[in-house]
Amino acid sequence: MREITVLEDPGAAVAERLTEAAVAGGQIVLTGGSTPRGAYARCAEADADWSRATVWFSDERMVPPDHPDSNFGMAARTLLSQLSKPPTVVRMQGELGADAAAGAYEALLRERMGSDPRFDLILLGVGPDSHTASLFPGKPEVEEMGRFAAPVPLAGMEPQVPRVTLTFPVLNGAREVDFLVSGADKADAVARCFTEPPDPDAPAGRVRPTAGSLFVFLDEPAAAQL
Ligand code: 6PG
Repeated sequence: MREITVLEDPGAAVAERLTEAAVAGGQIVLTGGSTPRGAYARCAEADADWSRATVWFSDERMVPPDHPDSNFGMAARTLLSQLSKPPTVVRMQGELGADAAAGAYEALLRERMGSDPRFDLILLGVGPDSHTASLFPGKPEVEEMGRFAAPVPLAGMEPQVPRVTLTFPVLNGAREVDFLVSGADKADAVARCFTEPPDPDAPAGRVRPTAGSLFVFLDEPAAAQL
């Protein structure tokens, strides 16, 4: 199932889905970048009971957790530290090198989610180059089908630091994937990823949960070329 919704404030819809999954005690994957900040702030305002949920991350920049570029740091400041009943958090360790951090996350994924991980809700964004998580067009990590977490030595965009990313087998194993995309600079990438057939070179267009739902929440400028 795939559904594209264009809203004035798509972050509000995503905040509702995150809150619902959290209250249900879900295994939830948060993402980085600037777009989800508003959604995280709304979840913090709602201050629901996240104590039964576990929060994971789609990708991380190899910086310490309190660095301004840390995806975990952004989620911690806007959401996780604001909740009265916070979730269990499994972060990618940006303070390690990409190889070590990917290996450590892989081990945690296998230990806690098994050999066929099925997340309840994975939140993702799309970059203007059509990347998602830290799966950048033309980079080898896009073809990774064995590992669940891959090191990304060369990022395709700023900040140009190595990353760790979840891979397609994990993204496409989810029960639900929600994309949150806003802004006119994403319109071209959105059209390449979410029209049929998607551009095979656009990583975000390759997120198609095999036995789950795909929801795409857009604002009008991001949806302009659909
Ligand atoms: C990251 C993200 C990345 C993000 C897109 C969109 O680490 O940068 O996880 O995949 O979702 O780059 O980011 P913006 O919302 O900042 O445009």
